[in-house]
Amino acid sequence: MDSTLREGEQTPGVSFTVDQKLEIARILDSIGVSMIEAGHPNVAPDVHEAVKRIVKLKREGVIGRAEIVAHSRAARVDIDVAAELEPDRIAIFYGVSDIHLKFKHRKSREEALSVIGEMIEYARGYGVKVRFTAEDATRADYEFLREVVRVARDAGADRVSIADTVGIATPYAMRKLFARLVSDIANIEFDVHAHNDLGLAVANSLAAVEGGATIIHVTVGGLGERAGIAPLEQVAVALKRHYGLDVVDLRGIVKLSRLVERYSGIPIPPTAPVVGENAFVHKAGIHVAGVLSNPETYEPYPPEWVGRSRDYTIDKYTGRKAVEARLERLGVKIDEKELAEVLRRIKERSEARWLRDEDLLVIVEEVTGRRYLLRPPEHIEALVTVRCESNVYTTSVARRLSIIPGVEEVVEVTGENDIVLRVSARNPIELNQIIEAVRSTRGVRSTYTMLVLRRLDTRGTRQ
Ligand code: COA
Ligand code: ZN
Repeated sequence: MDSTLREGEQTPGVSFTVDQKLEIARILDSIGVSMIEAGHPNVAPDVHEAVKRIVKLKREGVIGRAEIVAHSRAARVDIDVAAELEPDRIAIFYGVSDIHLKFKHRKSREEALSVIGEMIEYARGYGVKVRFTAEDATRADYEFLREVVRVARDAGADRVSIADTVGIATPYAMRKLFARLVSDIANIEFDVHAHNDLGLAVANSLAAVEGGATIIHVTVGGLGERAGIAPLEQVAVALKRHYGLDVVDLRGIVKLSRLVERYSGIPIPPTAPVVGENAFVHKAGIHVAGVLSNPETYEPYPPEWVGRSRDYTIDKYTGRKAVEARLERLGVKIDEKELAEVLRRIKERSEARWLRDEDLLVIVEEVTGRRYLLRPPEHIEALVTVRCESNVYTTSVARRLSIIPGVEEVVEVTGENDIVLRVSARNPIELNQIIEAVRSTRGVRSTYTMLVLRRLDTRGTRQ
């Protein structure tokens, strides 16, 4: 069950638009999650609107499979608002640890049991499926938790979510807890909702499954309150890797993560499992040599599972085999002695965080004295700053520049320069011609050209 839209939006700083939520919901359904927790309708008007429209997508068949879940307190006001939207399921939560009962609900255990039972029955009165979430269940007294689950089941809930609300469980305890609940209480299915405060959310979720849980709560990128909950991508890959379970289409996961990264504004760290930039990038020479011989030496699963590919960096940690393979890929052949010298020079460049192929080729040229001319680029983009004569109107110069073929954008700016141009050319000769045309334009005093090496789009991904 994915809760990116509910738990995920509880991440500090995150607020999705309704349209973003619809887009995310459609993708979640298309990759095959069983349930989508769309939001808590009584929280705010836009949350209400999003749940309403996601339910509509389900009714129209645009969302084909996933159950749509609406979140709700154990309170009539929330249940009424949620039920009116006719989701497939309402998830009613209530804290069941003594600390929650005392300081949040100010209720005794007996009072809590009756609120839980009554509210579930009330929701069931609307004819909707109900999941009950036992909040802070991992800190609750077991006998009481068992009582809560029985009451929830008898009131009509077909599922109970066991929430490790403060991420305090260990995998061993989690597995034992679920196994015990499953054996003690019949006719009910269990969800696990594991927070990641101690970095154990994925481990605890898997342990819960081993104990008998049948739904894992996840969010894309592990978004959520504080340190978040178990990330969809990690759970999905782990289920396949360890249990051979194909629960979602893994090939859709990276794209979804990048989308959620952009919409949430929470960046994916390079070291993030599965979706991080470095997840399949090798660095140390020994690792690269191993991977070149057989990727399984340093990869737990093939990157193709998630539609990615492996790579390796060249820097002072590099070994001979890595350089040899990289040069072969670049179509460059050098002898043993040259290779040793190239490697020595690479290791001297300890200031470089990594060497691009171009940097490597420069070193090879220095060592061999041969030229490895790079193919002339097929498309060049440049920024040209222009200073105007002091006695002309900048705008009239800008207008004259804007009609030069190859000038894509003209911006008047403040500061030392007057105008910035973005130009694009098919090759260096054409670029020269454009710059010449700019220079000889009336009113232009001087120009300065910068070639564009790399563009970042607003997602921060490389183009
Ligand atoms: N069931 C029933 N009541 C609950 C509850 C639950 N599971 N959890 C908390 N409450 C009660 C508290 O006892 C408190 O009631 P009180 O005002 O009578 O003391 C109230 O809900 C929470 O306090 P507060 O947030 O200040 O109340 P509010 O009426 O202004 O707002 C929400 C309630 C739900 C609209 C608001 O907190 C909100 O928008 N929350 C975002 C969703 C959220 O908190 N989700 C948690 C998911 S785990
Ligand atoms: Zn949570």
